[in-house]
Amino acid sequence: MPNVVKITNKIGSFTKTILVPGDKSLSIRWVLFSSLAKGVSKAKNLLMSEDVLAAIDAVKKLGIKVNINRKECKIYGKGIDGYKYKKNLTIDAQNSGTLGRLILGLLVNSPETINLVGDKSLSKRDFKRVSEPLSKFGAEFKLRNNNFLPLKINGSSNLKAIKYIENKGSAQCKSSVIFAAMRTDGTTIIKAKKSRNHTELLCKHLRLPIFIKNNKNFDEIKIQKVKKINTLNYDIPSDISSSAFFIVLTALSKNSELIIKNVNINPSRTGVITILKKMGVKIILKNQKTYKGEKKADVKVISTKNIKAINCPAKLNSGAIDEFLVIFLVAAKAKGISYFKNLGELNQKESPRLKWAEKILTNLGIKTITTNNSIKIYGNPDLNLSLKKKINIKSYLKDHRVFMTSVIAALIFGGKWTIHDKDSINTSFPNFLKIIENLKND
Ligand code: S3P
Repeated sequence: MPNVVKITNKIGSFTKTILVPGDKSLSIRWVLFSSLAKGVSKAKNLLMSEDVLAAIDAVKKLGIKVNINRKECKIYGKGIDGYKYKKNLTIDAQNSGTLGRLILGLLVNSPETINLVGDKSLSKRDFKRVSEPLSKFGAEFKLRNNNFLPLKINGSSNLKAIKYIENKGSAQCKSSVIFAAMRTDGTTIIKAKKSRNHTELLCKHLRLPIFIKNNKNFDEIKIQKVKKINTLNYDIPSDISSSAFFIVLTALSKNSELIIKNVNINPSRTGVITILKKMGVKIILKNQKTYKGEKKADVKVISTKNIKAINCPAKLNSGAIDEFLVIFLVAAKAKGISYFKNLGELNQKESPRLKWAEKILTNLGIKTITTNNSIKIYGNPDLNLSLKKKINIKSYLKDHRVFMTSVIAALIFGGKWTIHDKDSINTSFPNFLKIIENLKND
């Protein structure tokens, strides 16, 4: 089957309730924490995507038994020091920056050299951002060109607690250091720019020795050596990043209404909702609940006619970092010029996403001014492409969000689209196209 989707029709109106798959950040973290627990942990609604399966493969290689059936996933942890380190072990993080960076934190005490590899996209991404702080603990690294995968890590049996300033707003860097600190005597102190805090919430829920002071722009985290982790049974809520595609599709479609059930609305992840509401999109959160320290709710979206441009405050960036491509489609339909700044981190993702934003928007006939860390989008409320307008999107780097954003653009704005790399959705949202088919059949 060709790895391409062709779209030549806009989507009609729909009124539906949908469920999107489990949250990717929480799924990968559940696998890693459970692999360190003593006993059997169970997860329901674990995201069954390539990134999470890569995490499962990684812990299996470290000697941890995993059992997956249709209802649940079970991980048979052997305790915090339960990994078996074989000689010359290679762990493949595939397309997942989260897996690649977080797992390195857990390998800082490995008595054997471990190789970490990834796919073409991951091999272009910065790993110095984690090898640098982790080497301060005492682990040794050899990276390709001092920065990239493949890399080798040599753990140390004599780890030292560190002080670390995380100033990119990267939850992956912060979490990797938290994991390393869990293996280290003494108190590690982290001063971290705000970013998603799932790792900290899981540490708290598991009653690990973590102490957090939340300041306005950064968090101070103190963490000490962990002796034991209890098993973790988790019913994983749905992913707000996957939901974002459908929030935007509904907002920009005519006479439509959508409810997405049971979505994780951790405040460090809801930047997309805050930004879209500022742009006038009608979003309502219903049935809000707290579950194991995380917040969740049903998200209701209603088609919105008058979209306003936004000068997006940079403080909202980290909470919406994975959603900007699809947020830019809303800016394309807005009245006025939208401006998004301090977004250099977008070019550190699976592919350089600011460049992709420019490409997709230019194809839509929208003027942009793009730098290496900002984008101005000259919105057009009447944006509508003729069927004659041919658009071809091929990201080369298996970037699921480039693919899914292009599909949403095609369904909203029209035109004759050929969108390559369909398989990329398997990393985060395997049933994305099925849900769209289901909306079309309303
Ligand atoms: C993630 C953190 C973010 C995000 C990624 C998932 C995580 O990356 O883009 O999709 O689960 O910790 P950075 O930490 O590099 O910003």
